[in-house]
Amino acid sequence: MKILFLGDIVGREARKTVLLELPKLKNKYEADIIIINIENAAGGRGVTPKIAEQFFDSGVDILTTGNHVWDQREIIKYIAKSNSLLRPINMPKGTPGLGKTSLVLQDGRIILIINAMCNLFMPKNDFVFRSIEESLLNLELGNDYNAIFIDLHGEATSEKVAIANYFDGKVSAIVGTHTHVPTSDARILPNGTAFQTDVGMCGNYDSVIGMEKSLAIDRFFSKKSHLTVAEGEITICGVYIETDDYSGKSLNIEPIRVGGVLTPT
Ligand SMILES: [Fe+2]
Ligand SMILES: [Fe+2]
Repeated sequence: MKILFLGDIVGREARKTVLLELPKLKNKYEADIIIINIENAAGGRGVTPKIAEQFFDSGVDILTTGNHVWDQREIIKYIAKSNSLLRPINMPKGTPGLGKTSLVLQDGRIILIINAMCNLFMPKNDFVFRSIEESLLNLELGNDYNAIFIDLHGEATSEKVAIANYFDGKVSAIVGTHTHVPTSDARILPNGTAFQTDVGMCGNYDSVIGMEKSLAIDRFFSKKSHLTVAEGEITICGVYIETDDYSGKSLNIEPIRVGGVLTPT
């Protein structure tokens, strides 16, 4: 299965650029499924139903989120009815929305998508290792699902690497989001799980992780300042993963960086 995943979309310019470039990326990678983390799409803070619909209408299959999921109040009602907009699976019981969903492709192949949030330096949630483990209980990669994909939303590289190695071979791919900075460690782990600690954001990198530089720097000196999105030339960051349909293991992982100030892939 050919999976195209893009990291945290930050702000209006990033939304516009991704929607414009999506058909080219889909063609280039012949993607069977497109998954995007949308947690900063609405002015850097969360996502609205209208924005989510725009992405679904443009051919995106699944949207994932993270700690910013509740920033826009309208999303609460929307996510409660959605099978395609996910919030982290380890949020406490009773939280609206789903943390995992499955998708059947037109040819019958089936993929499970899980959104999970790390525990270190993140808002308090259930223990992420256990939550992922429970969500995989009695599931066999390659048997129950052709592919299993995890968007792992977290700050600490150590935690993300530990989780990836703990679940190596149990899922097709684990890719990190949240730091907004891509890491150069995309690889396939020994038991066949594709992994990258963080795929980076889709946003303007001439910024402090997507936010206007002077305001973001001010915040280190004072508690008063508030942040706005750094609009400007966008780098699209993500990853392309190809899995074996029988075993569910990964065959290939390629980081994607297009446009803006980062070195292109
Ligand atoms: Fe985040
Ligand atoms: Fe983010």
